[in-house]
Amino acid sequence: MSQQRDQWTSNVGFVLAAAGSAIGLGNLWKFPFITWNNHGGAFVLVYLMCIAGVGLPIMMAELLIGRSTQKSPVGALKEAIGPAWGLVGAWGVLAGFSILSYYSVVAGWSLFYFVKTLGWSLTGFPADVQTGAIFASVVSNGWRQILLSGLFSMGTVATVYFGVHGGIEKISRIFLPVLFAILLLLLFSALTMDGAGEALHFIFRPNFHELEPRGILEALGHSFFTLSLGMGAMITYGSYIKRDKSLVSSATIIVVLDTVIALFATIIMFSVIFTVPGMPEQVSSSTVGMLFISLPQLFYQVVPFGRILGPLFYVLVAMAALTSTISLLEVVVSYFIDERAMPRPKATLVSGAAIFVFTILAALSFGEVSWLSSFELVHGKQGFFATLDHFASNYQLPIGGLFITIGCGWFMTRKQTEDELVDDQTPGWFSYGVWRFFIRFVAPAAVAAILIAVLFFGADFS
Ligand code: TRP
Repeated sequence: MSQQRDQWTSNVGFVLAAAGSAIGLGNLWKFPFITWNNHGGAFVLVYLMCIAGVGLPIMMAELLIGRSTQKSPVGALKEAIGPAWGLVGAWGVLAGFSILSYYSVVAGWSLFYFVKTLGWSLTGFPADVQTGAIFASVVSNGWRQILLSGLFSMGTVATVYFGVHGGIEKISRIFLPVLFAILLLLLFSALTMDGAGEALHFIFRPNFHELEPRGILEALGHSFFTLSLGMGAMITYGSYIKRDKSLVSSATIIVVLDTVIALFATIIMFSVIFTVPGMPEQVSSSTVGMLFISLPQLFYQVVPFGRILGPLFYVLVAMAALTSTISLLEVVVSYFIDERAMPRPKATLVSGAAIFVFTILAALSFGEVSWLSSFELVHGKQGFFATLDHFASNYQLPIGGLFITIGCGWFMTRKQTEDELVDDQTPGWFSYGVWRFFIRFVAPAAVAAILIAVLFFGADFS
């Protein structure tokens, strides 16, 4: 405990790292898919409302708990609220553990597709290729799955090993700008395509007849995942901030960046899909289908400059995933550093290795090992990967989020929170009273609705 606590070198570094945590597979893989399934328009509007009304206030809550205590979630919640609240922090550490174990598997696929598309770009796209078959062969090859997710996990461990400013902040400062640049290139290319008009129409024209109640809850559930809320990742990142810039501004920038990136990614993917006749009907109903089955070939068939943009796109996915996995691992590692007085290198290697054991189980749960692939703990969720995703999105994050909002809104004093949110740098539009109302009433009610839907009405947000 005597070690000097690591800190971000500047507010820009912190904002980029936190935006990097938020921007990830949730934006590129999950959001387009659920937008598709929920018929766009009205769903997107509801999603934006959830982000502004629930996501943003909780983002501020987590950051302020972290910054005011300068501790990782277990210690932070104990100090800010009370000893028993350490359990909420521990719950978050477990959530980080389980999300990271399956997230690295999907991240590993992006590495595979990077290499694959690079090969196609250099040697030509084979005429007879079956992208569905390629994907099936990736996931059913156990050793390759382990290799891909292993490489990715090594990247995560290596970054966290070098610490908050030496690893996480450095990587984020490089990756985030590159990621924005690639995404803008893709966006320009997509907007010139024939399907762009229809895509924009689908995404931004609300048609409330098409929105089902579960769509609303799905939007809400996803706002936790995409903003990295509900498990203390933002408490952890907040605990490395120096007290100089307004938390309200930083939180807002992070949330806006995450939202813009999710929308850009969706515009890009849908423009491509709507350009190909018959494609909209074909987009398979599996989450991975769009990103890893439909898109790879379309880069070579319809996307202007697709030979260049294809590999760049999968690098983008990998980079976005890495800046998220490092935040997940950091939550676990910071627990061992702060609460168990472990030195960072040891904490990183030990937790990285332990999580990788679970990653291997998730990687093998696509057919390679039959009991891992077929057990059904939850009806309709087959195998280890799907089960982990199910528990994380439906229980771990909403339960964590519920306690964080209630703790921050009802158990912390007004002074404790006001001192963090209101200072001479706070932007003029911010009203502490409005925030407090949202964190005490709106956010807990919304999150409780998710849990009630999951527990009593069989809803599923994974
Ligand atoms: N937000 C990331 C994404 O959208 C995933 C993620 C990173 C996350 N850290 C988290 C989700 C912490 C929940 C909690 O891909």
